[in-house]
Amino acid sequence: MPMDKNVLMREVEERIAKCKACPLHTGRTNVVPGEGSLDSPIIFVGEGPGEEEDLTGRPFVGKAGRLLDKILESAGFKREDVYIANVVKCRPPGNRAPKPEEQRACSHFLLAQVAIIDPKVIVCLGGTAFSFFNGGNISMKEARGKFFDWKAGIKLFAMYHPSYLLRVPSKAPGSPKYQTWEDIRKLRKVYDALKNGKNIEEAIEESEI
Ligand code: URA
Ligand code: URA
Repeated sequence: MPMDKNVLMREVEERIAKCKACPLHTGRTNVVPGEGSLDSPIIFVGEGPGEEEDLTGRPFVGKAGRLLDKILESAGFKREDVYIANVVKCRPPGNRAPKPEEQRACSHFLLAQVAIIDPKVIVCLGGTAFSFFNGGNISMKEARGKFFDWKAGIKLFAMYHPSYLLRVPSKAPGSPKYQTWEDIRKLRKVYDALKNGKNIEEAIEESEI
């Protein structure tokens, strides 16, 4: 019988809480492992905790998080329906992007979380998450709204980071916000098709009609 996902995730969270593998641990108030449904076929991955996340130990609870909630709600998702995590689990000082060596030191935790949840789609919120999984140097402008093969039947889906959307508030057709509202609707179609028993290739095909 497979080990209970909750037990496995708790073990990962305990290891995260004790981690001192990179200098980010010295500035943390709390680690921010991630939270949500371990049975979701879709997980969202951001960059790293900001101030409010560091203070609460929860992902995406600050200003960007409130926008993420709105984006999710616009397509009928509740945050408890999905799993939300970050590339790094400790706050980078001044909200800078995590350095490559910090991402490398932390990567096994995110990869363990992905292995436990075994989602069909990893939604990369912004360039840090997208390049963590996809490598290479495709810009977010090019990548957003598209699916990419990752491994073992898991797809990546790129979306703009909510912090970026806070800096570019226009909702005009073709604007990043407008596109994000299109992207989340596409993701909803994929989610519904998966819940209806379609495989990921079929689900993506249905979302593009
Ligand atoms: N930005 C992120 O990338 N992650 C969070 O958890 C909060 C803000
Ligand atoms: N660049 C990023 O890294 N993320 C975005 O969301 C947009 C541009």
